[in-house]
Amino acid sequence: MKSVLAIYPGSFDPVTNGHLDLIERGAKIFDRLIVAVLQNLEKEPLFCVRERLEMLGEVTRRWPNVEIDVFDGLLMDYARKKKAQVILRGIRAISDYEYELQMALMNRKLEPSIETVFMMPAEMFSYLSSRLVREIARLGGSVRDLVPPIVEERLRAKVH
Ligand code: PNS
Repeated sequence: MKSVLAIYPGSFDPVTNGHLDLIERGAKIFDRLIVAVLQNLEKEPLFCVRERLEMLGEVTRRWPNVEIDVFDGLLMDYARKKKAQVILRGIRAISDYEYELQMALMNRKLEPSIETVFMMPAEMFSYLSSRLVREIARLGGSVRDLVPPIVEERLRAKVH
């Protein structure tokens, strides 16, 4: 029987409830889902890769078909190496679409056999992003309801 492996790539700095909503939806549809953290040497992240992997591991433990991994270089090289058939990406609003379309079509040019699948998170997460979560935490605002409790704790420890 055909088994579909999807990769959900991103920075996850840090993982938010919007990411988790998408992971839950993806885990229902695909046989296996790898959440792949980009090790981006250019960006200065708030959480190092190890911390991001730890948080993701903890908050996705309830889904047996979800794995956490790290990648660098081209996403399509990583996806080929993993023998994935699908890249999963979330689209929150029209404003995400242009960038996501460009990336999906470029990825298709690099590897035509891998499909990008877009899913929408619940609308209550449509305004949520890791960047805003980092900013709110840094400025002392509450990120409750935006991130899982263990991420909230780690954010508090990080910015104080
Ligand atoms: O969470 P993000 O920052 O929106 O994720 C972006 C990500 C990691 C999916 C994208 O930057 C990526 O795939 N980077 C890997 C390098 C690559 O393959 N670049 C060519 C994209 S067409």
